[in-house]
Amino acid sequence: MITESIRVVSRLNRTLFVLVVVTTVVTLASTQATDNSAPSYTKDGSLQLPADYRTWVYLSSGLGMTYDAHSSSNSNPMFTNVFVKPDAYQAFVKTGMWPDKTVFILEERASATNVGPNRGGHFQTDLRGLATLVKDESRFPEKWRFFTFDAENGLPVRLGHQVQTKACLECHTKNGAVDHTFVQFYPTLKRVAIQKGTYKEPPKE
Ligand code: HEC
Repeated sequence: MITESIRVVSRLNRTLFVLVVVTTVVTLASTQATDNSAPSYTKDGSLQLPADYRTWVYLSSGLGMTYDAHSSSNSNPMFTNVFVKPDAYQAFVKTGMWPDKTVFILEERASATNVGPNRGGHFQTDLRGLATLVKDESRFPEKWRFFTFDAENGLPVRLGHQVQTKACLECHTKNGAVDHTFVQFYPTLKRVAIQKGTYKEPPKE
């Protein structure tokens, strides 16, 4: 009787173990699918926010980067954190090129200083907005399209609007070291692009 119960319990344990393993694998697989899902749009052409972009591959942060020669320096400069979709990152490491459906997110965050124990350096604070760059070859004649997301109460809104001005594309096309993107400012990828021969020396100012 007792041995029979032990056997039943151990069989139950094994079933439970198998269930746990299967659930874990399924959960991991679905997380992966979300991470690498293709860009998704609404009917009117807005971009849906990739909600998990903070788990994407982090490329670098600009601090107080400004594109205007006459702008005065800000005592609390903005951080720009750049993330890229994980499958695009992996493809870039292999080839030095961005595959179709690459999505970048540039997160703009305010900064602050002088909060103890920090005495001089800057740290990141509130979200100010997101700028997005999407490569979708069958959808956009110029292959790449820019979108922006506003921030509300420290979080990005769910839909990003297509940028109407050509200014974004012009600067990115002229100055970006690899295929409209600023790989010259992403130190780990700069090495990859030089090695793979896809690095285009940006024009000197
Ligand atoms: C005068 C040049 C210039 C203009 C105009 C410009 N950008 Fe950029 N952009 C940059 C630079 C430089 C970087 C690298 C920033 C960093 O390292 O933080 C960048 C990076 C980005 C990235 C990260 C991916 C990449 O290309 O490396 C996105 C997304 C982006 N910009 C969106 C926009 C949008 C949207 C606009 C228009 C509203 C815009 N940019 C206009 C210079 C420009």
